[in-house]
Amino acid sequence: MLASVDGEIGPAEHARIPITDEGLLRGDGAFEGLRLYSGRPFGLDDHLARLAHTCAGLRLDLDERALAHELAQLLEAAGPVDGVLRIVLTRGGRRILFVEPLPRRPRIARVGTVRYAPNRITDGLKTISYAANDLALRLAREQGFDDALLVTPHGRVLEGATSAFFWVRDGQLFTPPIEDRILPSVTRQTLIDVAGAVEEVCTLDTLHGAEEAFLASSVREVQPLAAIDELQLKAAPGPVTLHAHAALRQAIEAELG
Ligand SMILES: Cc1ncc(COP(=O)(O)O)c(C=O)c1O
Repeated sequence: MLASVDGEIGPAEHARIPITDEGLLRGDGAFEGLRLYSGRPFGLDDHLARLAHTCAGLRLDLDERALAHELAQLLEAAGPVDGVLRIVLTRGGRRILFVEPLPRRPRIARVGTVRYAPNRITDGLKTISYAANDLALRLAREQGFDDALLVTPHGRVLEGATSAFFWVRDGQLFTPPIEDRILPSVTRQTLIDVAGAVEEVCTLDTLHGAEEAFLASSVREVQPLAAIDELQLKAAPGPVTLHAHAALRQAIEAELG
């Protein structure tokens, strides 16, 4: 695993930042996670645009030229790997980039719902304050599920702990609207563009009419769901999920060649 801290490249386990960095002390900073296909990141421009949006929202300086230069150098050093590229910018001013292996995940998941309320001030920003998302995942796993589905106290279904959420009804693919204060996921937007997903408010009641559902993110692409709490989905993966995944793969191939 290779890392770059302010342009200094070396093994990730030897990379260091000062313990006074408020990125560490307060989870104050911005990040991105991209998938590398043979060493090439998919959706780099979209991820960098979201990073700039997060930095603007957090009032965090972003040196785009230095980042682009350091990113090119790290990717060159990493070579044609399949994995995850992380970009982390801390309040202490560190630019951290690293390449890590893909996480192991079940091909088909069962998710448990977890109560979650967006906090209104950092909504839509990809900040490094992920303790709530990680806790949601742990709570769901404690109940025997593979992942968490975040649902507001009013019953609005939002997204996964680290993924966008999609469901299918009468053969049509749906995903919750950005106005529900979810993360503007790059994969979600790609699936709206290439797989005809439509934004619609989702409640727990809505899910009882669902034929299929899946989670989507840069790292996992499309992960079919077999169950949401006690609700068993008819098909995992069903035809609309398979079509959406194929359309995403096509978009990736079209961009990366
Ligand atoms: C809360 C949340 N929603 C959605 C996503 C998926 O975003 P993307 O498609 O940009 O990877 C992530 C990714 O980490 C996330 O953390």
